[in-house]
Amino acid sequence: MCGIIGVTARDRDVVPLVLEGLVRLEYRGYDSVGVAVNAGGSIIVRKGAGKIADVRVRVGLDRLSGSTAIGHTRWATHGPPTDGNAHPHIDCDGMVAVVHNGVIRNYASLREELSGRHRLRSETDTELIAHLIEEGLRRGLDPLEALARALARLEGSYALAILVAGEPDRIYFARMRSPLILGLGEGVNAVASDIPALLHITRRVVTLDDGEFGWISPDDVAVYKLGPGGSYTRVPQAEVASRLKTVEWSVEKASKGGYPHFMIKEIYEQPQALTDTYNGLLDDPNLGRAAGLVASAERLYVVGAGTSYHAGLVFSYYAARVSGVPPIPLIASEFKVYENSVGAGDVVVAVSQSGETYDTLEAVRSYKERGARVVGVTNVVGSALDRESHVTIYIRAGPEIGVAATKTFTSQIMALQLLALAAAAATGRMDPGEARAEARGLSRASSVIADAIRDSEPVAKLLATRERGWRSLYILGRGLGYPIAREGALKVKEIAYLHAEAYPAGESKHGPIALVEDGFPVFLVATSDSPEIAGNALEMAARGARVMVVKPRDMSLELPQAPNIAVLEVPGGGILMEPYALTPFFQLLAYYKAVQSGYDPDKPRNLAKTVTVE
Ligand code: M6R
Repeated sequence: MCGIIGVTARDRDVVPLVLEGLVRLEYRGYDSVGVAVNAGGSIIVRKGAGKIADVRVRVGLDRLSGSTAIGHTRWATHGPPTDGNAHPHIDCDGMVAVVHNGVIRNYASLREELSGRHRLRSETDTELIAHLIEEGLRRGLDPLEALARALARLEGSYALAILVAGEPDRIYFARMRSPLILGLGEGVNAVASDIPALLHITRRVVTLDDGEFGWISPDDVAVYKLGPGGSYTRVPQAEVASRLKTVEWSVEKASKGGYPHFMIKEIYEQPQALTDTYNGLLDDPNLGRAAGLVASAERLYVVGAGTSYHAGLVFSYYAARVSGVPPIPLIASEFKVYENSVGAGDVVVAVSQSGETYDTLEAVRSYKERGARVVGVTNVVGSALDRESHVTIYIRAGPEIGVAATKTFTSQIMALQLLALAAAAATGRMDPGEARAEARGLSRASSVIADAIRDSEPVAKLLATRERGWRSLYILGRGLGYPIAREGALKVKEIAYLHAEAYPAGESKHGPIALVEDGFPVFLVATSDSPEIAGNALEMAARGARVMVVKPRDMSLELPQAPNIAVLEVPGGGILMEPYALTPFFQLLAYYKAVQSGYDPDKPRNLAKTVTVE
């Protein structure tokens, strides 16, 4: 969704810091961008529709200066991406400026109420917040009180940074169901949607909880907890200090590091990410706790969206095989399907890279209310999922900036394989020594994926440049190969804007094969559990399809020599290694197809990295 940042410093121009933060936040939305500077008695706003590189020139963002400023990069939810709908939004008199990430659910009724009393300039829900604060200020409330009263009127989700004229050294903030952190430096403090946006300012961060709001100045911070009807209490300074964490990510790690795009950098980071996931989890007591919960589950659900759902499908596959507790995989937005059968004794494994995906959080909250216990699997410490979970498993893949999930998918799989093995030991289905030995074997994943990238890249590049006429393609898999095929098709769709449909290979002859004609591209993901896939390759080839089978080198598959059947061999190593061997080809195919078509793979159209709306 949107990205927000606010910086206030002692005797220093913070606009360059805000702009740098916005560049790093742009992956959260790139419909429009804007900055507001507190000039003491007034607020100066410059903003416009488009990407930051264009808008900063067009409206002169770099010509702004000041020691307290806020900025925003937008992914539109209310109103199209226009200059007028770009944030920051101001009240009637231009005394309050607001940037917002989230969605105000009671937007329609608030708008109707406020439109009679205020001059509304945009179609956004955010502008209404500025007017609500304005009403409090007009009644003589101080800005903190006015903010609290305004927040009490809001339903939905928000992360806010706010400037109030006459308060030149303060940025007000608030958080409800949208990510927001504070960054505390020396004579400079900041607030932002995520950590990479702050790494050029400070490494010392505090994660805010839902219902918290307050202000920062260059040398101070005050956090309050919102109560009923706009009442509030101060969060003790000692508690805020106890949440202070020093981030170890380097600035380089959060930047492109010499690669043309974040996506390819993150594909290449997979060997390291898998090492970090493995090292971080093998002896993590949370893994044992999570496995205990999984093993004791009456019913086990695994929930996630997009790529995280696919990782959940891979988990279902392994958990059903080894642990004896077969999970029910669930697309997060469809959680209501099982809602009424959830009860105490059930366990939900919730998978989310960001830990902030709205649908996943709603599923978790609903099942939790009905008594289920939650195991969170996330990349972001302190995320909403982390805080909602009874036990959290961190995947430790490092920041992922490209909108397409790549390294976090394979790190999620590693974490979930470790969980399945630990659960197998906990249920007694596997001897603990044997489960531990299998888990240790996962250390090979790092070299398997490095080799897979090496083997896959030339073929992916060649196909991307040679096959310019593709309009549609199938990716088929059986068993473990099916979730890998789904993830491959998602990558091709979201980055290369090419229709790619994943299907269980056996099911493909019950309908999809009707589309196959001469030259239709069909990829098959062969996994060692499903040698029958050779038959599906033949069925497709017999109807003229251009077939490419991607298979582990140590898997024997009976395929005839035919001009329309090609085979790409990737590393083997057994069923636990196959996700790492087979996934990179499709990541790379999507990446090179996008680049060859002139698309930006880091910022695919209509998509956002973190989807914090229904
Ligand atoms: O942060 P999450 O893992 O919860 O995000 C879920 C999906 O939005 C995400 O995986 C999305 O499908 C990616 N763009 C896929 O590449």
